[in-house]
Amino acid sequence: MTREERLGEKRGEEESRRRRSSTPPEEDPLGDDNDNEALLVASVENERRLARRLRLSPNPEHVPESYEGMRQQLEFHPSVFRALERHLPTCMLRVPRDAKLDFMRKVLFRYLPNGDFARVQKMKEYREKILQHYQPLHKELYVMHPTAFFVPSFLKAIQENTLESFGAILTEPSPGIYTFDMLQPRFCNLLLAEVENFEKWVHRNKFRIMRPNTMNKYGVVLDDFGLEVMLDKLMDDFVCPLSKVFFHEVGGSTLDSHHGFVVEYGQDRDVDLGFHVDDSEVTLNVCLGKQFSGGDLFFRGIRCDNHVNSEPYPEEIYDYPHIPGQAVLHRGRHRHGAKATTSGHRVNMLLWCRSSVFRELKKYQKDFSSWCGKCLREKQQRQRELVAARRMEFMRETESVV
Ligand SMILES: [Fe+2]
Ligand SMILES: [Zn+2]
Repeated sequence: MTREERLGEKRGEEESRRRRSSTPPEEDPLGDDNDNEALLVASVENERRLARRLRLSPNPEHVPESYEGMRQQLEFHPSVFRALERHLPTCMLRVPRDAKLDFMRKVLFRYLPNGDFARVQKMKEYREKILQHYQPLHKELYVMHPTAFFVPSFLKAIQENTLESFGAILTEPSPGIYTFDMLQPRFCNLLLAEVENFEKWVHRNKFRIMRPNTMNKYGVVLDDFGLEVMLDKLMDDFVCPLSKVFFHEVGGSTLDSHHGFVVEYGQDRDVDLGFHVDDSEVTLNVCLGKQFSGGDLFFRGIRCDNHVNSEPYPEEIYDYPHIPGQAVLHRGRHRHGAKATTSGHRVNMLLWCRSSVFRELKKYQKDFSSWCGKCLREKQQRQRELVAARRMEFMRETESVV
């Protein structure tokens, strides 16, 4: 507590004591003095409040602390705390990191509705409980090792980061759907083994886990048992370079959070997956294995909220057969589902990448013709009608002149 705070509190206590023991204001001969003191207390309180208010503009000279190592314990992304630290009042800049963190948390929580706050807290406790007790099988998976994770062609294309290098690895079998070789077989096997190990631990300990989404009853959330930091890196360094180029109009260049999970299909697991859109701007879907038949992904065109149930156009119909190690990248609003896995066991890793900027801007937009197939058709139809009407008008004017 700062000296100003202690002073303010002491004066406040004295003030309330005085008020409790004093005569009523209308009979108090010292009323003016009391008013002055009340004003003084109010001004000290105000000064204290101002001194602890965030700066409107960031402090360019301040070098923020790193919060990366605390990722699992934080309710918000470490980059939020790093950015917010530059806005701290001067009196807060030299206090220990924990005190800064405490202050920033209080500021951030003020912006969360009560329901969200409870949800964030609950999720934090849920993950802490898992992390305290679960022993990872392959620790090497938890830190990004690009050369061990990715096939050389994918790595080279991302490192070169040009349209030509992406063109060399990607195929676009249907508009807006990109496929490419991505994961090394060894990485797929290690991740499959890690997931199996986690599931065994869950079963042994009768731990109730949250499933990846409302549609998949089998599968696990990778972020919940320690893979969040690695998957963040996967999004930032390996998905963003592609989504910036190919999905710019749906927030592909401003991806800032993810939901990473695996889904499992086959006997005694989910068989198929109904027609839906993802809660993502960009989805990365990679098949990890194992042996299976069936399970094709069926795509049926990209739609905005208003047109999500409209019929697909013939050119939007496309079925994609899974190949282990191969990735599919598509917009979250690209309607799709999974056909039945008819034999064997299929496991896919999904990374739903989200952009808070895009989601905020979308609230104020009405025209989604840059990505919704139906909006685009309707816009083109309106333009055709307008041109036809103008042509008719012009013809009538010409006839009347003749
Ligand atoms: Fe999906
Ligand atoms: Zn639309």
